[in-house]
Amino acid sequence: MDERERLIVALDVPSFEEAEKIVKTLGDEVIFYKVGLQLYTSAGPQVIKYLKELGKKVFLDLKLHDIPNTVAETVSVASSYNVDMMTIHTFGGFEMMEVAQKRAWKPDGNQVILLGVTILTSLDQAFLNDFLGVDRNLKDEILQLASLAKSAGLSGVVASPNEVRDIKLQCGEEFIVVTPGIRPEGYDSMDHARSASPKEAIIMGADYIVVGRPIVQSDDPLKSAREIQEKIRNGLSQRP
Ligand code: C5P
Repeated sequence: MDERERLIVALDVPSFEEAEKIVKTLGDEVIFYKVGLQLYTSAGPQVIKYLKELGKKVFLDLKLHDIPNTVAETVSVASSYNVDMMTIHTFGGFEMMEVAQKRAWKPDGNQVILLGVTILTSLDQAFLNDFLGVDRNLKDEILQLASLAKSAGLSGVVASPNEVRDIKLQCGEEFIVVTPGIRPEGYDSMDHARSASPKEAIIMGADYIVVGRPIVQSDDPLKSAREIQEKIRNGLSQRP
């Protein structure tokens, strides 16, 4: 893998034009982009087509959660656009994950990296106990959902940096972990309760890191992206 692919920049902007501006600014420094609900709702498949024509990789982060057939058909359509990575909610159930995985193939015959979302970081222990009525520790529940995702055939999960080690221990090194909530050293953690620096996340074993605002809202996005790429290379060289 080209190590620059490990940085996934979240294009959390409201329009195609704004996304295009960022992609042009970042040039060759960034290969992988995340298109989330906001940009996809605004710009649709056009933004995926644009990125793919530039030779970029696309993480379509729609966090799908519906009945198995609907999710599987949606994964199939997205796969036909050549997206490289997608998310579905593990809470959609085992069958949903299993049938979605079967449809996660690109026209060139390569697999789309299908990731499970476990428990959103905006939710906490009280949500598990009081809202769902599940009497289990939050971390154990996350590990359980990651294991189920693996059994259903998914390629990996999205998780916070401090869960990476346990997930790799439980599901194996090859099970992909993508971590958002990344903040360069000295940067405000903003709304992430448990953030880590790019280097820390890579040393902990994250396969890919997702970075949005520290690059997209930077005064100098290219410089910020360069610095993060450097930290990733640094982290890789320091992995145990
Ligand atoms: O701007 P920032 O770097 O915080 O962006 C983080 C990105 O990661 C956002 O696109 C957000 O939707 C995503 N995210 C996620 N799962 C989380 C936390 C953030 O997918 N638990």
